[in-house]
Amino acid sequence: MSTANMQLDRQGRLLHFLTVEGLSRRHLTEILDTAESLRGVAERRVKKLPTLHGKTVVNLFFEASTRTRTTFELAAKRLSADVLTLNIAHSSTVKGESLLDTLQNIEAMQCDMFVVRHQQSGAAEFVARHVKPHIAVLNAGDGRHAHPTQAMLDVFTIRRHKPDFSVLQVAIVGDILHSRVARSLIRALNILGAADIRVIAPRTLLPAQVETLGVRVFHDLRRGLQDVDVVVMLRLQKERMEGALLPTEQEFFQRYGLTEERLELAKPDAIVMHPGPINRGVEIDSRVADGPRSVILEQVTNGIAVRMAIMSITLGNHARPTGENS
Ligand code: NCD
Repeated sequence: MSTANMQLDRQGRLLHFLTVEGLSRRHLTEILDTAESLRGVAERRVKKLPTLHGKTVVNLFFEASTRTRTTFELAAKRLSADVLTLNIAHSSTVKGESLLDTLQNIEAMQCDMFVVRHQQSGAAEFVARHVKPHIAVLNAGDGRHAHPTQAMLDVFTIRRHKPDFSVLQVAIVGDILHSRVARSLIRALNILGAADIRVIAPRTLLPAQVETLGVRVFHDLRRGLQDVDVVVMLRLQKERMEGALLPTEQEFFQRYGLTEERLELAKPDAIVMHPGPINRGVEIDSRVADGPRSVILEQVTNGIAVRMAIMSITLGNHARPTGENS
């Protein structure tokens, strides 16, 4: 069974969230609408809902993360779950324990959900295949493959500013080759019917046959930014680069860095996004990152509501007997 299919039950409901690939517009819209209704929780005096009361969520982070890990943690807490975060890069695997052994030990602690980040593509799917059927698995980033919750918080942020995807023009700029964020975002935008998705990068930072993902390719930043509604900047993932894919950071900034002057080429009300962590002066100028068009911190805030939505939908579907109509 493909990753896309193994996350759905026989009625086509989401049991895990491993990739946006293979999902329908209805699935994505359900997540976005649920997140919209959960957004207000943060404004309440008591920032909590009882949805996951009595449930245990375990964050398994085999790779460094700040935003993703903490917003998953807050999302689970705001839904009243008990939450445990394991930074495994620093614990058992260092002592030689296999992923499967780690899993079985944590499973033995009777948890209900695993949130997995791992440097290996396919890791979250591997976990989903090996856990007990009552456990929901969410992918918090696997290798270069997918980062579906990031894609959902990105499209959620876009939808709040630009609700009509049928006229939406989006440019994704920079290190597409190493970016699981770009892969998942491109898929989500296509599923939601975005009019024009562009990737702007030097040839060395683009995956082979990137056009097959449903994007238009530009190597020239100025041409690519022309009239877009959304600019998504990506970090240069130097830790994933082997060999000399780049000249120097200064040269990269000269050709692909987003400055106020270059942003003028986009629509006057264009928004600027970045999944973080940002490298100031490498892919983005500080004046743009901190400027009025930047929604970078909104993305972080929205990440909590979107993750709350995905957690309640997947665990809710686990609770339902199969065959029952939703
Ligand atoms: C991204 C990631 O880890 O894939 N960051 C994130 O989740 N906020 C992108 C990156 O590391 O550049």
